[in-house]
Amino acid sequence: MMPASTSPNGAEDDFSELSAYERAGLEGKDPRCIPVQLDAPLPVGDEIVTPDYTAEEHQIWATLFKRQRELLPGRASREYLEGLEHLNLPQDRIPGLAELSSKLEKLTGWRVARTPGLLHEQDFFKALSERVFPSTDYIRGPEEMDYTPAPDCFHDIFGHLPMITDPDFADFYQEYGRASLNAKGADRRRLERFHWFTVEFGLLLENNQPRIYGNGIVSSYREVLSAFGNKVERRVFEPESMAEQEYEVWHIQPILYVVESLDVLKQRFREWAGGQLGLL
Ligand SMILES: [Fe+2]
Repeated sequence: MMPASTSPNGAEDDFSELSAYERAGLEGKDPRCIPVQLDAPLPVGDEIVTPDYTAEEHQIWATLFKRQRELLPGRASREYLEGLEHLNLPQDRIPGLAELSSKLEKLTGWRVARTPGLLHEQDFFKALSERVFPSTDYIRGPEEMDYTPAPDCFHDIFGHLPMITDPDFADFYQEYGRASLNAKGADRRRLERFHWFTVEFGLLLENNQPRIYGNGIVSSYREVLSAFGNKVERRVFEPESMAEQEYEVWHIQPILYVVESLDVLKQRFREWAGGQLGLL
């Protein structure tokens, strides 16, 4: 899941202040990237009703799961792989969000909410600040097996949830939500870019080798291969410069940032967002 930044009366927005997702939505590239208006609170945990998935939808999950799982040894971080074990995700069917919420709550106190699509950032950040992860429950079509720029439940469940079982990451992500709720204008955009280059597309070091913790990489076949290829530019983690780096959601990422560890991610985020920007 990614936040999007339109205000309900978007006419007053400055285009340059919009997120990359939002710009893509307005440019008409993909209507799924236009944030949804909520007219009721999102159902959380046991309130979530699991849809009647078709056999084809379960098969898409099974195919994606098998292919990604085989790619990850030696590429994904220990924290991600342990999270995957803790959640014990089914290989052959789309899991229900209510059962995942219950598992996550026992591990780190986070719960899962069901969102009908991309959320406005205010709703997204508020959920994170309350240790709630908004997940979609629909899956991509067979034509988007390699990558989808729009949220779907394979990205949200297989990509995001394992990392939220890690105590350091879980605390960092809640703080991220809090800081973002407090941020306005240019600082909001800085935090959104930071999210992109960490939560979505972050790498960390393990025995001095890059390993994936970013959900956008771990849930995409092409991004996993690209992250270890020779075309990508791997830069040293630096919150201030990452927060100024623009990105696009429509192609394989050309720039990735590598942090020493999740503990460093948490500490440096706190120093930057709390100390420098005064948002915590
Ligand atoms: Fe995401």
